[in-house]
Amino acid sequence: MQYADLLIENHGKVAVIRLNRPKAMNALNDNMMNELGDALYKFDADPAVHVIILTGSEKVFAAGADIAAMANYTYADTYPGNYIGRNWEHILNIRKPVIGVVSGYALGGGCELAMMCDFLIAADSAKFGQPEIKVGVTPGAGGTQRLPRAIGKSKAMDMLLTARMIDAAEAERTGLVSRVFPADKIMEEALKIAESIAAMPVTVAMAIKDSVNRAYETTLTEGVRYERRYFHAAFGTPAQKEGMAAFLEKRPANFEGK
Ligand code: HXC
Repeated sequence: MQYADLLIENHGKVAVIRLNRPKAMNALNDNMMNELGDALYKFDADPAVHVIILTGSEKVFAAGADIAAMANYTYADTYPGNYIGRNWEHILNIRKPVIGVVSGYALGGGCELAMMCDFLIAADSAKFGQPEIKVGVTPGAGGTQRLPRAIGKSKAMDMLLTARMIDAAEAERTGLVSRVFPADKIMEEALKIAESIAAMPVTVAMAIKDSVNRAYETTLTEGVRYERRYFHAAFGTPAQKEGMAAFLEKRPANFEGK
């Protein structure tokens, strides 16, 4: 796959998508968001791919939406016209696990895009922030909604209202990211994590992702019912037969092709 604003790498069952506009700090423009949607949908539909990594460069995940592109927009341009945000949420339709790997800045729309991944791992160089208020706008891709859910209201309000950045240690402490690694080891560690998930049965990984995401959209009772349907359905899959047989036979499970 060839893109103007993305780099693609294949690592067996793990596909890596790199945001790549180095001269503009990976600022997220219309073309990049269209390309990102295209790449994500292709990997989601590719049976050879089990896990997707979304990352940027060593210096920057993404410094937000492209300010140069939108500086002169009017309301008519943003809403009735080329509705900003319309191509930002393709990632939410992806059924396979998407791991966000952040080195350097994840700011504004960059932080919002990162938060749309299933979980985040960060380099110790990572810095997260929602500085939209400094450029006179609110967040527009879920910053006011996902950040409080991720790190709590007080921390989120603090970040959103002051525009201050948090570093990787604070991001891990607050639960925004799951693990932090030294910057020079981040991709190696990210691939190990992705490969460990890719070795699991993909059908179950997809069901777990779907169930966890349901928790953010429904009540606890309905969420548990939803999970239980997947649990019951798992007994109709080769993965359950292999996983439980392997346990009882005291051998490693081989989920190849399951
Ligand atoms: C366009 C950007 C950009 C952005 C950086 N650049 N961020 N261009 N949009 N969001 C460009 C700079 O203009 C500059 O171009 C080059 O990248 C290098 O940036 P510098 O500022 O010179 O680098 P540095 O001093 O290292 O500072 C890095 C930085 C800073 C801290 C990341 O660039 C920064 O604060 N960026 C803006 C962050 C921001 O406000 N994001 C929120 C945007 S609003 P030249 O041509 O001069 O070399 C948003 C809304 C989302 O995201 C809505 C979603 C629907």
